[in-house]
Amino acid sequence: MRYYSTQIGEEQYGKEITVGGWIEDIRNLGGIAFIIVRDKKGKLQITVVKKENPDLFKKITNLPRESVILVEGKCAKNEEVMNGYEVFPSKLSILSIASSPLPMGIADKVGVDFDTRLDNRFLDLRRSEVGRIFTIRDLMLDAARRFLHSNDFMEVHTPKITSSSSEGGAEVFKLKYFEKNAFLVQSPQLYKQILMATGFDRVYEIAWYFRAEEHNTLRHLNESTAIDVEMAFIRDEEDIMMILEEMTKSILMETTGEKLDLNIPKTFPRLTYDEVVEMLGMKWGEDLGTEEERSLGKIMEEDFYFIKNFPLEIKPFYAMPNKKYARAFDLDCKGMEIASGAQRIHDLELLKERMKALSIDEKKFEDYLKAFKYGMPPHGGFGFGIERFLMKILGIKNIRECILFPRDRKRLRP
Ligand code: AMO
Repeated sequence: MRYYSTQIGEEQYGKEITVGGWIEDIRNLGGIAFIIVRDKKGKLQITVVKKENPDLFKKITNLPRESVILVEGKCAKNEEVMNGYEVFPSKLSILSIASSPLPMGIADKVGVDFDTRLDNRFLDLRRSEVGRIFTIRDLMLDAARRFLHSNDFMEVHTPKITSSSSEGGAEVFKLKYFEKNAFLVQSPQLYKQILMATGFDRVYEIAWYFRAEEHNTLRHLNESTAIDVEMAFIRDEEDIMMILEEMTKSILMETTGEKLDLNIPKTFPRLTYDEVVEMLGMKWGEDLGTEEERSLGKIMEEDFYFIKNFPLEIKPFYAMPNKKYARAFDLDCKGMEIASGAQRIHDLELLKERMKALSIDEKKFEDYLKAFKYGMPPHGGFGFGIERFLMKILGIKNIRECILFPRDRKRLRP
């Protein structure tokens, strides 16, 4: 069995163990060498004394950095060393020799430009501060899944290739599908609503969003991910907001080990659009853009807050009207929208009326509209941007840091 660096303690001291990973650093002092090996969980020190094992000493100290080794040896307690122990190897297996020079440093403090980092993302991800983002992302999704399952939500997967229009608004990517034209979906919106007509009353999907928007900003990706939720038998949008709020808190609880610097209110404030218009001196009817969201973030003391009751005109056709407003909401974190959702229209006639008012061609939505004909309960849901959430809670400026292999206007590889 191979131990991770963080799994070793009193129980292993004095015993023969196997450890391994990537060589981060070699400090050769002549008669003794300290090899720093990095594994998935952390780092450990291997200490080689030349006169005790001259062959092994020579082999290991000549290896290029980032080579992969496996070592068997005695583990010894040593308070002076990181983790409080070191390993004296008796057997060395060289699993892979790294070429040198490396295209970028791993442990060095020298800055590397972002394009070089992304071009060599497999190396970039070996850096602890970069890898940490994805460890937290994993914790976050695990917490979200547990929360949603414990609230009776079922995980689903809906198509990402579609023949008809997506929900509208964002530009879509076109592709050839044998003899036909097809699109990549901009979100699972239409499918998760269709699922409300199946009897699976509560569903969620860790979904891909494909959006062919040409903007190249620090908060948009052309391929992003979201936690998409849809639930039926709701009274109004407040039922959905409650689930979104509880899910967000539950995720934050699971990551508090990371000591996040956040002011998480007991209950997330609910601002109305009209209040925000007044606070920011906006024109009624305008949507909140990057600047408005940022300004609002500066005013708000709490780091999480909802905005609700948006004007009907600025929300998609499926949002439930409430006079001149839509039963729609955004959840913002420190000056940026991280999620948005709404109660949907479940009445077919009203839905068609709204589509007509917005000049949307019903024919293109045939499959979607059919689902409203034979028993559709009141429902609603939200899309929660995973990368946006991570960047806000971790204080990261560029959204590209929060996805393994970002896709933006200019980047289609690796
Ligand atoms: P919306 O378009 O607001 O709503 O998207 C929901 C959330 O997804 C994230 N997001 C993005 N993140 C990075 N790059 C992008 N290009 C991008 N686009 C969206 C944001 C946003 O709040 N169907 C509705 C959701 C619903 O009503 O259920 C929708 O897609 O965090």
